[in-house]
Amino acid sequence: MNKISIIGAGMTGSTAAHWLAERELADLVLVDVVEGMPQGKGLDMAEAMPIIGKDVEIVGSNDYAATKGSDIIIITAGIARKPGMSRDDLLTTNAGIVGQAAAETLKYSPDAIYIVLTNPLDTMAYHTLKTTKLPRERVIGQAGILDSARMRAFVAMETGVSVENISCYVLGGHGDEMVPLTRHSNIAGVPLRDYLPADRLEAIVNRTRKGGGEIVNLLKTGSAFYAPSLACTQMAEAILKDKHLIVPCAAYMNGEYGLNDMYFGVPVQLGRNGLERIIEYKLDDEEKAMFEKSAAAVKDTHEALKKLVKI
Ligand code: APR
Repeated sequence: MNKISIIGAGMTGSTAAHWLAERELADLVLVDVVEGMPQGKGLDMAEAMPIIGKDVEIVGSNDYAATKGSDIIIITAGIARKPGMSRDDLLTTNAGIVGQAAAETLKYSPDAIYIVLTNPLDTMAYHTLKTTKLPRERVIGQAGILDSARMRAFVAMETGVSVENISCYVLGGHGDEMVPLTRHSNIAGVPLRDYLPADRLEAIVNRTRKGGGEIVNLLKTGSAFYAPSLACTQMAEAILKDKHLIVPCAAYMNGEYGLNDMYFGVPVQLGRNGLERIIEYKLDDEEKAMFEKSAAAVKDTHEALKKLVKI
């Protein structure tokens, strides 16, 4: 059986365990600093398995030794956004937490593939790569699947068409400057721009960009967790089943899209070795301008990280 360790057993981490357990993809370990909480959640979930007939071992721990021999490490540890905070506001606190989680897990699972969820996402993925010194194939950030799913949900609400028929691609950094690619999005093959009036499409693009904040403002005490954790579940499944699935994720840029030494949301192909390939869309001038604006914002946060920690 494969093994997935989830660092941070809060809302996102424990919900990821829930989705993963249902798919019977791997044995699961939840690690958190809060004493008893990951053990309690792990045991509760293990006791649910007989009801759905899934043979998954789920345990919780406060000790990284429990993660030994993991195939995948999912990092969700950190603080979540509260109303009025941007994802970048989380940087100082979460940089310390993610750096420690990356270093500790690597000791016990030198062959693992990392999926990073903690915000500010692109910069925390960059931090994980630099801390572990792993090849970029093995450190991938979750963001694009979530942002694209939000856009798909909003298009479905607007049109009444099944979410299954709706394909949307949101690339770029996981912040308000993200890049919803309306030209590449479609409903059952019909371009979104032909299906929806321009003003409705623009409203959907804006709502997508602020999708995380909309939920933070509703929840008040934390940020979204159902869709983010399901997005990372899809990534883990694509990796463990060697699906060669193309999905938008945050990947380390090595010249692609003209970007270097930074994480950015792009279409990637995922298989058993992690990131197999980055797909480069042909962008028009308008899309290029949006990419550049988003990349500049991500770069700023990377620079802020470099001032905080030695990497
Ligand atoms: N090691 C392990 N776990 C830690 C550590 C640490 N050093 N520091 C904090 N944690 C744990 C907390 O105890 C908490 O249980 O991380 C968990 C975070 O859970 P929540 O507060 O419920 O936050 P969540 O909604 O899961 O978001 C976590 O994911 O989507 C992002 O923006 C979000 O950065 C945030 C992260």
